[in-house]
Amino acid sequence: MEGSSGPGPPARGVPSSPSAHGGEPRSLPPEIPDDFRTLDFDRLWRGRDRTTQVESRIVLDALATLSSERVLELGTGDGRLSPFVRRRASEYVGVDQSFEFLLRLRHRLPRTSETLLVEANLYHLPFVAAMAPAALLVRVYNFLTRPGEALREIGRVLVPGGGLLLTCNPRPSTGTLIDDVRRALARRTGERMRSMTFSRADVVPVVPSGIPAVNPTRRFFRRTLREAGLRPAVTYGSGLEDFRWARRLPAQLFLSAGRELGRSPMFPLVWEVARSGPGDGAAALPPLRRSLACPRCRRPFDELDLDHDFEQPCGECGFLLRMESGILRARHVAD
Ligand SMILES: C[S@@+](CC[C@H](N)C(=O)[O-])C[C@H]1O[C@@H](n2cnc3c(N)ncnc32)[C@H](O)[C@@H]1O
Ligand SMILES: [Zn+2]
Repeated sequence: MEGSSGPGPPARGVPSSPSAHGGEPRSLPPEIPDDFRTLDFDRLWRGRDRTTQVESRIVLDALATLSSERVLELGTGDGRLSPFVRRRASEYVGVDQSFEFLLRLRHRLPRTSETLLVEANLYHLPFVAAMAPAALLVRVYNFLTRPGEALREIGRVLVPGGGLLLTCNPRPSTGTLIDDVRRALARRTGERMRSMTFSRADVVPVVPSGIPAVNPTRRFFRRTLREAGLRPAVTYGSGLEDFRWARRLPAQLFLSAGRELGRSPMFPLVWEVARSGPGDGAAALPPLRRSLACPRCRRPFDELDLDHDFEQPCGECGFLLRMESGILRARHVAD
């Protein structure tokens, strides 16, 4: 039986897998919902500089504990945090499923051969195994329709003992509590309401949400990580700075509290540094030009010249890998 996290633990709550509950076979949810097209990052982040300030400090703090020889930023969006990640990494690889978001991100970073932007799907990364010691997945997890599968794929490209810094909005938290109270106040007389905070399900849908998203319990989130072969090692908490009333307080206050009390349910956003399997994360890396593999059939590509536009079909399945406007186009989505 599969749960909402694919090969991860079976979930109680949001049903999403075929015949998981003994009913009619249901098709798996799409790997990438269309709704990301509607993301307006400028609008989304207006007035929230304090949040980005706190998050960039957590990113720098956590990356300092990982090898920075090559860092993969997965789900970059338009690059809100990318300049901070880029600063820490000898080689930087930014991945997003949206070519448009990557075009915007490109303007935030210097163009060097140590920077590679890749249009790809997290479920089918176009990389050979064990090609990076460090990766980030910030503000993406709750949108994943099959998080267990995505985490396994990320674990595949990390070297043994490599580290993934990822965030999740879990429950219960002050965030879900405030959302519940808002919904309760806005509800019409007699209308039933399901609490996100006090639900006993492993995973519940986030309501309201512009893009379909889910909220796992803290315990279920960590279990999904472990089932995907990733060991949670360090926890930070954040998100209180995102509340309007708190934005004027100094960033350092949130950082210290988030480091000391990372597991407290008061934080709406949890950050984990999770390690991939045994090892110290110090394996020799293949050069970037020899780190690419077909996202559809996994066959490695021969050495590629990543400094110029090109088209290269996969020798096995014909998938066309392209470098266009300085962005590697390698998005494969399974039917
Ligand atoms: C809310 S944004 C977060 C962006 C950035 N990490 C930040 O914190 O500002 C989520 C990003 O994840 C990307 N994403 C979601 N599912 C993905 C998938 N399956 N493969 C690649 N990128 C994905 C979306 O395109 C979007 O840019
Ligand atoms: Zn192929």
